[in-house]
Amino acid sequence: MAVYLVTGAAGFIGSWLTQALVERGETVRALDNFSTGKRENLAPLMDCIDLHETDLRDAAAVARACKGVDVIFHEGAIPSVPLSVKDPRTSHTANIDGTFNLLEGARSAGVKRVVYAASSSAYGNKNPLPQKETMLPGPLSPYAVQKLTGELYLRSFWEVYGLETVALRYFNIFGPRQAPDSPYSGVMAKFARQMLRREQPTINGDGEQSRDFTYIENVVQANMKAASAPAEKVAGRVFNCACGKPFTLNQTYKMLAELTGYKNPPRYGPPREGDIKHSYADISAAREAFGYEPAVDFAEGLRRTVDWYREQHEAEISRELLAGARS
Ligand code: UD1
Repeated sequence: MAVYLVTGAAGFIGSWLTQALVERGETVRALDNFSTGKRENLAPLMDCIDLHETDLRDAAAVARACKGVDVIFHEGAIPSVPLSVKDPRTSHTANIDGTFNLLEGARSAGVKRVVYAASSSAYGNKNPLPQKETMLPGPLSPYAVQKLTGELYLRSFWEVYGLETVALRYFNIFGPRQAPDSPYSGVMAKFARQMLRREQPTINGDGEQSRDFTYIENVVQANMKAASAPAEKVAGRVFNCACGKPFTLNQTYKMLAELTGYKNPPRYGPPREGDIKHSYADISAAREAFGYEPAVDFAEGLRRTVDWYREQHEAEISRELLAGARS
């Protein structure tokens, strides 16, 4: 049996991967510094994982976490375009130095394969649609540059040291457990929560920007398949991980409003700095190399996501009522 390391294991995507591995009966080491990851995401899995409370910037601790590991899913990052625009240094060190430390740790420990959370932001605005991995990247924001740098390092560690690496360019992943409550939260989590709380969401710009929103279960599938595919098909390569269908923010808003019963129109604000206009993936490379096939489409993903945020919302109201009754 292989030993797996998941970085960012307490985060949204990391916790889904950790859970999937535990459910398969794998041996799992989970690394997180809990800066944005939540302990509650790992709580049900605590008896089945080896938890390393470690910052990716701590090279020695990262190297220790890599010992005895066969496969790494590298999800740990500071994952926000606007946050990277506001404070590029912090995300630079977490995303670039952190990835470098992990690759160095993996190389010295003799890890077989690293599967990396890359980002669709690498394409920028110049590329024709749909975006293909063969296109030249055009990163706009510091975050996009950082994630692309990670890809290049992965490629180099494969070419130079023979560490099998696979980069999955995530296209706007959404689903249960995505944190909704920070100004830097992903739009789907933020809007779902705001609508359920009957707070008016703000659309940045005219809402005609589009994204290839991808439900989390598809991402788990892509990672598992990328981890076990033959090296000659995947090593040193980059693959889009998406649904292969774009939706504008205005369309998304309408669908979410219907699911949440929210009746008001959005507020329209200025466009966001570093934002790209359209994002839409060609997913044929992942399909051909490792049989990736998105199993949950956008509408079904949205339903499941809103159901989860609704449960959270109801639990929050019950807690507030209970606290009110006690005081
Ligand atoms: C980007 C990357 C994605 C990466 C993610 C990490 C692209 C195409 N995608 O997503 O690969 O995983 O960062 O965070 O670059 N918006 C509003 N109102 C809000 C919040 C957001 O209108 O309250 C808009 C944004 O301006 C943007 C869209 O919603 O146009 C999506 O934003 P967000 O969810 O933050 O993700 P991206 O920045 O697109």
